[in-house]
Amino acid sequence: MQNNLGRTEFKGLGFYVPEKVLTNFEIEQMVDTSDEWIYTRTGIKQRHIAAADQATSDLAAVAARRALEKSRLLPTDLDLIIVATATPDTQMPACACLVQQKIGAKNAVAFDIAAACSGFIYGLSVADAYIKSKAYQNVLLIGAETFSRIINWHDRSTCILFGDGAGAALLQYGNGSSGIFNTFLGADGAGAELLTIPAGGSRLPADRESVEKSLHFLQMNGREVYKVAASGMAKAILSALDHAGFTLEDVDFIIPHQANVRIIESLIQKLKIAPEKVFLNLARYGNTSAASIPIALCEAVEDHKVNKGNLVVLVSFGAGLTWGASVIRW
Ligand code: UT7
Repeated sequence: MQNNLGRTEFKGLGFYVPEKVLTNFEIEQMVDTSDEWIYTRTGIKQRHIAAADQATSDLAAVAARRALEKSRLLPTDLDLIIVATATPDTQMPACACLVQQKIGAKNAVAFDIAAACSGFIYGLSVADAYIKSKAYQNVLLIGAETFSRIINWHDRSTCILFGDGAGAALLQYGNGSSGIFNTFLGADGAGAELLTIPAGGSRLPADRESVEKSLHFLQMNGREVYKVAASGMAKAILSALDHAGFTLEDVDFIIPHQANVRIIESLIQKLKIAPEKVFLNLARYGNTSAASIPIALCEAVEDHKVNKGNLVVLVSFGAGLTWGASVIRW
């Protein structure tokens, strides 16, 4: 729905990926795979991997400081920090509290959102509601992950896909014509087992057997996730646009979750959109889950692929299953 009373605007963006790069050629030395298989099946060439002393909150804190700098705000100006992550440093406390302490945002409320790869879009919806209700003014939304810690590095079907990183956005109420027009979300718990970490929670707490069976690592039915990803994202885009009063023709640029180039190509075909209107950085980072969209958005803005006045759609799909799309006037 169009809302003339004001919108949630993006004031500043920042991202961080760890220095260490892991190429497909290096993965060839670890499991039975090849650069050729990985690149042709996924579009990935390399991914960044956190150093031994880095956890998700460390990556998030760097991205947060960069977004604050771009926004010309101090950490103490923040009212709320939301971290979207499937890989918090610990089950408790929330990663957002660790980030709050690390960056010195002592006035901010802090909590996490668990919506896996859709976490940033879910977070946008939450931040937008808080900002529009005037509950919080300066909201820092971060998508941050260290999937390298939950990957079974002996499982060639998943270890090739993921990378570590963080992206952050400072969101504020604005009276102008730019900002978030609509965020559409969806979920289907019937698909929960398609992408899961079976152990380490209340269903199957850590014990010797769970560790021996590698149940604390991510397990994915890639083929089944693949089947629903493109159609789920296409429907999310059309629903978000419809609710915002726009059509596909109005869209200048689409930033999809970076999971697999073939899923993105299939999305392009389904919606019959020009490939040059769709952002890709998958080759360099792999799938960074909740960090993928804010990293991509930050790069797209820095590369002037997203410019002032553009109508931009962010769209994601991930574990849950969850999906979502956000329509933004830049
Ligand atoms: O953020 C959302 C989360 N996840 C996703 O978006 C993932 C969605 N799924 C995918 O991207 C794809 O399903 C994968 C990239 C994971 C797999 O691609 P695929 O084309 O669906 O391959 P497949 O699973 O159907 O496997 C084809 C073959 C199999 O061999 P057989 O059974 O045909 O002999 C696999 O064992 O490829 C084999 N294979 C590999 N071969 C070399 C699986 N992984 C590898 C590998 N290297 N790394």
